[in-house]
Amino acid sequence: MTEPSSKPAIALGSDHAGFELKELLKAELLPQGYTVLDLGAFGPDSVDYPDFGHAVAQAIEEGRAPMGLIVCGTGIGISIAANRNPAVRAALCHNGLEARLAREHNDANVLALGARIIGTEAAKDALSEFLNTEFGGGRHEGRVAKLGQS
Ligand code: RB5
Repeated sequence: MTEPSSKPAIALGSDHAGFELKELLKAELLPQGYTVLDLGAFGPDSVDYPDFGHAVAQAIEEGRAPMGLIVCGTGIGISIAANRNPAVRAALCHNGLEARLAREHNDANVLALGARIIGTEAAKDALSEFLNTEFGGGRHEGRVAKLGQS
């Protein structure tokens, strides 16, 4: 009998522009033992990025996954969509350092990437840092709590 995975589930979402990078990163996650909750897009046909940002945000809000990965052409539109949900702290990152600091300082729970902006290796590095960095707590606690206020 196989042991249940200790790795968290990751909700994935992209539009058509982010589809290929989402698939590439999904292929990185699965052999590492992550469970992926792929909410689409499921092909390169043109779709609307807010639909997928909202779907990932809803999965986070409902506790179906503690973390998410969202990808569109720039990462901007899909992160704006996801961040409209108060359960989400989506960080648009371009490298591993930003992704690490997004976890350490901001307790970001969704990584946003721009497939037309970032290279494959930087995207892999950002995802790895994002998933392997804990929130720093301490002086960051109160600031992150304030993100939930308007
Ligand atoms: C799609 O052409 C593009 O607008 C979208 O992927 C994203 O970059 C929007 O922010």
